[in-house]
Amino acid sequence: PERVFSGVQSTGNLHLGNYLGAIVKFVELQKSHECLYCVVDLHAITVPQDPIALRNNTREIAAAFIACGIDPRKNIVFNQSQVPEHAELAWVLNCVARIGWLNRMTQFKDKAGKDRENASMGLLDYPVLMAADILLYRATHVPVGEDQKQHLELARDIAQKFNNDFSESILRNGYESGVFFPLPEPLISGPATRVMSLRDGSKKMSKSDASEYSRINLSDDADQIAQKIRKAKTDPEPLPSEEKGLEGRPEANNLVGIFAALSSRAKTDVLSEFGGANFSSFKNALVDLSVAKLSPITAQMRRIREDEGYIDQVLRDGSERARAIARENMNAVKDIVGFLR
Ligand code: TYM
Repeated sequence: PERVFSGVQSTGNLHLGNYLGAIVKFVELQKSHECLYCVVDLHAITVPQDPIALRNNTREIAAAFIACGIDPRKNIVFNQSQVPEHAELAWVLNCVARIGWLNRMTQFKDKAGKDRENASMGLLDYPVLMAADILLYRATHVPVGEDQKQHLELARDIAQKFNNDFSESILRNGYESGVFFPLPEPLISGPATRVMSLRDGSKKMSKSDASEYSRINLSDDADQIAQKIRKAKTDPEPLPSEEKGLEGRPEANNLVGIFAALSSRAKTDVLSEFGGANFSSFKNALVDLSVAKLSPITAQMRRIREDEGYIDQVLRDGSERARAIARENMNAVKDIVGFLR
């Protein structure tokens, strides 16, 4: 059976990239699949977090999930730290993954910067915990943005190595195919798998960018959205009428991609409408579209955020349901590895 898992870190500034690259897909997949959507607070502390802000950000992400249309009764919506099996499986997978594999991870190199010796162990280990998140539920499909592709490949490598290293034990424990973990498939598609900064078309839109004008936050009001789009960097040419005309024009490509994703259209389709137009008129249309799509979500997020008791209950309930699956699979892992229980 197909099972979907994905996660979002409980750090502030949830933005349009997170929404279009990931959360829109989460909403879509709930129609056809059994889905688990996790607020990954264990991942968040790989860099320093203020404890009060961390707890609030966990609630903020859960509220965003629900406001975007994820139904917490139909899906399992939970936060990672309430299911201790994530950390437990991560330890086993730490002993499967190789140091060399982790040293190659580009996100680690970016986040650790020059002073790598001083990065937390957790930051280096981040992708192993991510593999544990997915494999703990034996998930088959993982909707993510383009930036997570390398981590998904690592998760597949870890799953494969576990299956190989323990193949005899897996068979002995009654898994006739000899395979315990399915190799999870990344779901990365559409016109906005990599939303770029509004200030610099060569950098991705990011929660940690110092410039507020680089991103549209899901908490922005209509005025802020309009201001940020009007200030977005562009080039002096009018829009091309075909997609290949976007080559070498990263800012134009980004804005057209955002427009396409927000209107559920293809980029070619958007260009056939706006080809030849100058940016000021295209930006006006993009402001209208963005406000129309995002304002109801922002308003709904605020309403949900007011009822902390409700959010906490959703996460507690989701965690219990997640844990029932997690415990069963973790027991199987213990038997396969040879732990006495
Ligand atoms: P996080 O919180 O950094 O990002 C959440 C999701 O948003 C996507 N994303 C983007 N998509 C398009 N354009 C962008 N500029 C952009 N920025 C972020 C990310 O690809 C991600 O899908 N490591 C994960 C969290 C995680 C996870 C998991 C995901 C932990 N365990 C297991 C899947 C399965 C992350 O980057 O979260």
